[in-house]
Amino acid sequence: MAEKNLRCNIEDGIAHIIIQRPKVLNALNRETLVELDELLIQLGTDEKVRVLLVRGEGEKAFVAGADIKELAENSALSSNLHAKFGQSVMDRLENLGKPSIAAINGYALGGGLELALACTLRIASSNAKLGLPEITLGIIPGFGGTQRLSRVIGRGRAMHMILSGRPVSADDALAFGIVSELAAPEELDARALDLAHTLAGYSAVTLRLAEETVRRGLEMNLTDGLAYEASQFGLAAASDDYQEGMQAFLGKRAPAFKHR
Ligand code: CAA
Repeated sequence: MAEKNLRCNIEDGIAHIIIQRPKVLNALNRETLVELDELLIQLGTDEKVRVLLVRGEGEKAFVAGADIKELAENSALSSNLHAKFGQSVMDRLENLGKPSIAAINGYALGGGLELALACTLRIASSNAKLGLPEITLGIIPGFGGTQRLSRVIGRGRAMHMILSGRPVSADDALAFGIVSELAAPEELDARALDLAHTLAGYSAVTLRLAEETVRRGLEMNLTDGLAYEASQFGLAAASDDYQEGMQAFLGKRAPAFKHR
């Protein structure tokens, strides 16, 4: 696969994905989205890969948004198609069946925050700035931001961020629940990697079931969500890792999960 705008290396079950367009603060142009989409297709079926870790190249930005140069050339129709394509890439990431961690190393704006929101978990450096500034450009978020941000932090705060276009500090992002952990800039990579290793040590089957149950259950009413949880709980018990987890605890030893 051509890796012009991003690179990926796989180590210890962790796919390190780095968006690398530092001259434009890693802005997502169409070519980058296509590369990311192709990469996700590969990673989704690669049994060696258990966790994805996403960050931007350099110290300044995770991703500063969709590429504004490209957006400037869009018509109404191509804009709509562009949004649909961007959304499909974010959907693929969110629905991959493997947990992904966004290590937000600086600006995560527009499509950059939307990419982070499509990840399962987000950890940010204490100097990061996160926002959906599209309104300042005369557009609205188009890679899922209106939907995912409001689901993550609620309608009021999402409306405030989207309508004001103002980015929030890392501290506010933590308080709002956009990210679940902050790290000093020089510690971000190590902390994100440590989290990735923790996840990669668990059974891939149960990781998948847990992620799916939270995500899909949130789209249901409580009664349906609980029924879904119970059936997923039953499914987890069909995996040999279920017995391994139980027996390891009872035998006072560390579990050696088979599906890793
Ligand atoms: N698209 C294209 N180029 C971008 C870019 C983007 N999203 N963000 C930054 N760049 C480019 C700049 O044009 C600049 O290029 P030149 O050196 O050729 O001038 C280079 O990256 C460095 O950026 P700045 O000089 O602006 O750096 P700064 O430190 O002064 O400011 C910033 C940093 C506040 C992040 C600023 O770059 C900025 O506001 N960027 C745009 C953020 C934005 O509006 N994102 C939303 C995009 S729209 C979107 O994402 C739609 C969607 O939902 C799909």
